[in-house]
Amino acid sequence: MELNLRYQPLEAVEADAVVLVAFEGQKDARAGLAEWIEAGEITGKMLEMTLLHQAAGLRARRLLVVGGGKPEAFGPPELRKVAGAAVRLLKGRSIRRAALYLDAGLAGAEYARAAAEGALLGDYEPDRYKTTKNNGQAFEQFTVAAAPGTSDLGEAVERGRVIAESQNFARELVNEPANRLTPTLLAERAREMAAAHGLECEVLDQDRMRQLGMGSLLGVAMGSAEPPALIVLRYRPAAASGSSHLGLVGKGVTFDTGGISIKPADGMEKMKYDMAGGAATIGAMRALAQLKPAIPVTAFIPAVENMPGQRAQRPGDIVTSMCGKTIEVINTDAEGRLILADALCYARGQGCTHLVDAATLTGAIVVALGHIYVGAFTNDDAWLGRLLSAARAEGEKIWHMPLEDDYKDYLKSAFADLPNVGGRWGGAVTAAWFLKEFADPAPWVHLDIAGTAWLDDAKPYSAKGPTGVAVRTLVNLAMNWKE
Ligand code: BES
Ligand code: MN
Ligand code: ZN
Repeated sequence: MELNLRYQPLEAVEADAVVLVAFEGQKDARAGLAEWIEAGEITGKMLEMTLLHQAAGLRARRLLVVGGGKPEAFGPPELRKVAGAAVRLLKGRSIRRAALYLDAGLAGAEYARAAAEGALLGDYEPDRYKTTKNNGQAFEQFTVAAAPGTSDLGEAVERGRVIAESQNFARELVNEPANRLTPTLLAERAREMAAAHGLECEVLDQDRMRQLGMGSLLGVAMGSAEPPALIVLRYRPAAASGSSHLGLVGKGVTFDTGGISIKPADGMEKMKYDMAGGAATIGAMRALAQLKPAIPVTAFIPAVENMPGQRAQRPGDIVTSMCGKTIEVINTDAEGRLILADALCYARGQGCTHLVDAATLTGAIVVALGHIYVGAFTNDDAWLGRLLSAARAEGEKIWHMPLEDDYKDYLKSAFADLPNVGGRWGGAVTAAWFLKEFADPAPWVHLDIAGTAWLDDAKPYSAKGPTGVAVRTLVNLAMNWKE
């Protein structure tokens, strides 16, 4: 999709359709809209869509009016949705060149960036393997338009392009089926991306991990014929200010059968998305390579396939993690925490001072928060506070979940330092508590994205399937770093 920026009066904009945002309770003198508003046909309700032909005084043949809801509740995250919904509606009608007009109140940099992002995110379709594409052909041209004399929005639109393309890159990875994205192939994709954008990429193989004592990660890999990989992506700023080093850790289970504690067949095909946390960190690194934050950022993606092969680990097996703690594997389906344990420990050893992990870790977080909020757990409230402000600015919904010492009793093993599962209750919390044992003492946030990394039903502004959740928050966190 070609992305443009124009400074023109609304009347002069040339496109197959020009898109305007209309707000609830606002009289609107633009393009003859007053008439439609008075008639009650346009109300301005959030994402209400009205496609008009030959609107008064416009050069563009069509006018798409998208509701923005109440003006006081409108910000860049809402505009992102508006732009995405506009693109999806238009391309469904074979209209593939549009301009979103940002009038006075919307002509700031954060709005311009959100408009560009929304258009690119809305255009994404998980149809790589369909010979007949979903929802028509891809969009051709999207223009962000604002009045002449508006301050320069070029850099903002460019940032939006980088971030949204990186989020879509993560979605492409998540969408890949497990036969086309094994741990080895995921490492190859990360390597290609790193070469294209000037990041360092190192892939630790099984032998190296054995030397390092990563028994917890390697135990999960035992059941698969596909070898595991620990993918490391490094960004270093030209001149680092301060002494912080951000570490991003992403769960990269390319397929989760459950292992010997095998999952039911129903819906198991979705478990190709069990590497969405890893994809989010790879996507974030792709954006950071181009946006160049002031601090070093390193991503660690433990990539494995969780299979019940002949050499698979068994319930009751005891493994030793890199940090020396022993783990009793009660349930081989609680594999994410096992691979993250070694990756977190390794990340600390690599000098990371602040950690964030993203993982499709538990079904329990879906029970707790549904498909709306990401669950966040931390050992450092101030550090989580910074991540939550990044998330708010990016329109990603993240909820602070509890993680207190009271939960410690839920994780007791008679035979090892820790079991890999707690009891029946608080499954997302016990999973997070397990991770904390390996992240401590570094300030750390765990994002459980099991409910939010995949959309079962399309939204007006997004296709069904992979969402690329967490990419924007991670990028914002690194870009707005304060010591
Ligand atoms: N990958 C799953 C979690 C998951 C579930 C992600 C549903 C997306 C949708 C994870 O590895 C898993 O299997 N977790 C188990 C843990 C249990 C065995 C303690 C779960 O949530 O059932
Ligand atoms: Mn599992
Ligand atoms: Zn899993």
